[in-house]
Amino acid sequence: MVELIKEAIGIGWPVFLLLIGLLLYMQASASDPEQKKAVTFKTMIGMLCALLVFIAIANYKNNFYGESRLLPVSLVMITVMAFIMGLYFPNIGALMKIGGFMFFVAAALSGYGNWLPQVEGGFPPPEVKLDFQSMSAQQLGDEGEKIIFGGIGASKTQGAIGKGQCPLCHGFQQGFLSERAPNLYGIPDRAAERLKEPNYHMNDPASRPSVQKEAFEGSGTATNGQEYIAESHACPSCYVVPGFGVKGSNDGESPMPTIHKPPISLNLGELAAVDTWMYVREGKDAPAYEDIVASYEKFIPEKDRPAEGGEEEAGPGGSLLADGSEPIDKLFMKAGCPGCHTVPGIEGATGKVGPVLFEGSNAPNRIKDPGYKGKAKSVKEYITESILDPNLYVVKDYPPDQMPKDFGVKLSAGAVNKIVDYLSQLKEGQPLPPKE
Ligand code: HEC
Ligand code: HEC
Repeated sequence: MVELIKEAIGIGWPVFLLLIGLLLYMQASASDPEQKKAVTFKTMIGMLCALLVFIAIANYKNNFYGESRLLPVSLVMITVMAFIMGLYFPNIGALMKIGGFMFFVAAALSGYGNWLPQVEGGFPPPEVKLDFQSMSAQQLGDEGEKIIFGGIGASKTQGAIGKGQCPLCHGFQQGFLSERAPNLYGIPDRAAERLKEPNYHMNDPASRPSVQKEAFEGSGTATNGQEYIAESHACPSCYVVPGFGVKGSNDGESPMPTIHKPPISLNLGELAAVDTWMYVREGKDAPAYEDIVASYEKFIPEKDRPAEGGEEEAGPGGSLLADGSEPIDKLFMKAGCPGCHTVPGIEGATGKVGPVLFEGSNAPNRIKDPGYKGKAKSVKEYITESILDPNLYVVKDYPPDQMPKDFGVKLSAGAVNKIVDYLSQLKEGQPLPPKE
């Protein structure tokens, strides 16, 4: 609060000076003591109001910096104007009328603002086709950071996540605890080392313990670090880092989604951008764009390569993963559930980190579990609770702290309701619910 007042005075000092000047001037020109008192009182009230208004601005600036500030600034401006005009009107009635009218206009405007869709931005930015090929390593790395974290510089923000969805599972900062998947700090050097590990079985694909021998018939296995990274993305189960495999698969199957396939569907240019970021952010020279793309071509057959610039970017601003206006398949993809959950009826939702989401069948059993400590009484309440507060109850035989805890801020209320509605209708052994 003290900070805010300081900042408010910082913004508003010309106005305060003006008011003090006005006070002195009116004091000097007023003749009788009654009038002097009235003038002082009015000016003091004016200054108090101005301070409040500037605190509002300071507060607003701190909270919403960078987003469209047009509407509330206009509200504040109108209110300030009302008071300044009021000071010049000796007639209190006129002051109230003008102030009241202005307030009405401001309130109507802000009410209208709340009616607008939740996602900021108004018009979608014009589609810019990115020419990855002609970018410098730094520019390409910036694009990679956007794909992984949702924005340039966002890699330092806890919980930031972009269309690549990697931070759902991977830690990226040196020393950062990363239990679901290896911390990707140091991967440029580690990649080449992985090839030397005895269980990599590079020379004998037949003896690999993997459920997914190769990305496609005839594709090789990696022969250098960059190829290892490409293979990790294109064929996650080709080699599973010991200890990180799907439970019960004896490290033969990776929980990591195939990055060029739905839901994530990065194209080769985007994959090259992601990899380039992982090199340049550690101050290392990245392989040339063409070489990175070639490393992916080795593992991804032509027919499986997503078209360049096909799928549109994640929602504007990148803060909301989904706003609920999406069709149900797309909504699940955008929210990122398919990376971890199998969702019957949703194409590409074959994740194995969490339970199959037959919630119409599962939820009643969870609520009955003596170990259940949540508050849900109905199927829908249980699902909502599982999404918004996943640690309240952890499904038996699954580790805690796997599911991200910030869906409450990453999904609009409409999006959560739509997901809950769909999941509540999924029952084992019964027909799939209709999709609207
Ligand atoms: C659903 C969780 C999940 C997501 C999402 C995910 N990964 Fe992974 N990733 C894993 C797991 C688990 C492993 C370790 C098992 C394995 O080797 O496949 C892994 C392994 C890797 C490896 C090999 C690491 C090593 O130390 O050898 C790389 C590289 C990698 N992931 C990159 C990425 C990138 C880049 C993205 C985003 C585009 C991503 N992953 C998205 C779970 C995930
Ligand atoms: C990084 C992996 C991960 C992601 C992403 C994820 N979940 Fe989960 N989820 C889990 C795990 C693991 C569990 C089981 C442990 C627990 O209860 O926390 C779980 C449990 C659940 C449950 C309870 C299931 C039951 O049968 O009781 C629901 C419902 C659920 N998730 C819904 C979702 C939805 C919806 C999304 C997307 C908005 C999502 N999850 C995203 C890992 C994930």
